[in-house]
Amino acid sequence: EWTPEAFVDMTVDDLKKQIGDDKVVLGLSGGVDSTVAAVLLNKAIGDNLYCIFVNNGLLRKNEFESVLDQYKDMGLNVKGVDSSARFLDALKGISDPEAKRKAIGRAFIEVFDDEAHLLTDVKFLAQGTIYPDVIESISVNGPSATIKSHHNVGGLPDFMKLKVVEPLRMLFKDEVRRVGAEMGIDPELLGRHPFPGPGLAIRILGDITAEKVRILQEVDHIFIQGLRDWKLYDKVWQAGAILLPVSSVGVMGDERTYEKVVALRAVESTDGMTADWVNLPYDFLQKTSNTIINRVKGVNRVVYDISSKPPATIEWE
Ligand code: XMP
Repeated sequence: EWTPEAFVDMTVDDLKKQIGDDKVVLGLSGGVDSTVAAVLLNKAIGDNLYCIFVNNGLLRKNEFESVLDQYKDMGLNVKGVDSSARFLDALKGISDPEAKRKAIGRAFIEVFDDEAHLLTDVKFLAQGTIYPDVIESISVNGPSATIKSHHNVGGLPDFMKLKVVEPLRMLFKDEVRRVGAEMGIDPELLGRHPFPGPGLAIRILGDITAEKVRILQEVDHIFIQGLRDWKLYDKVWQAGAILLPVSSVGVMGDERTYEKVVALRAVESTDGMTADWVNLPYDFLQKTSNTIINRVKGVNRVVYDISSKPPATIEWE
């Protein structure tokens, strides 16, 4: 019978044997999979695990700083690399969803390769790949998946010539969470909603600017904090806000406004393959909409997405 305890013991032993005194590099994304993989490896080889956490400037409000602090508190040997400007630059003028993903994947690989070069004698690349990633081999969760789906872009970066370690490749998501809990990882971190690797870039429809990212971060923060305050967060599989590329007319005092529209999306799902919109309480939606419109300059209208997947998708891009 599979238990998280036995899995941790066995995997830590295996990793020690496999890696010995060599160095390993791993890209942390802030998500559950890469975090659990890092903690497992840290148990096995300590500071010979070098973690890199890249800020692509498309994360949630304050997420880079707070997650980096959390990683340090967990005793991980982690370096935070703020590459926001580089990613924004790579995305300049791009509106097509797949072109955005490619630009982000490329920028990520460049940053990661630069960082990996600063380390000497690294032998292994660790990834938080889980079983569904293995069988679908489509990008679902953060840097590891991003690397895989873009490794044919313009020759192999040096870090990709490293030997690959994937301690979670036989596990499903719920098993990964149980392994994380067994190792004492903060339940709040383990219960975090999935968040796409390209981040807010695929929730800003049309081209991306620093100002649009700032607006969406504010809106998203109000929505997600509201879900937490109303004890709705754990009832939802994934939630977020989308900045639409249209302006609509509104009134503020005696003035006519012409500002942005945001959509809120909250879904129930088990694996992201199918999903249904969540019937959030009207009181909550009302309060959230008022708060967003009153507090976020540049937004004068909020709508709620009531589409299921299929035929819609969870993200809008
Ligand atoms: P869709 O929009 O296809 O999303 O219904 C299903 C799940 O996948 C996430 N998603 C992505 N994750 N890179 C990722 O790492 C991506 O390009 C990407 N696109 C969608 C989405 O957030 C949802 O959890």
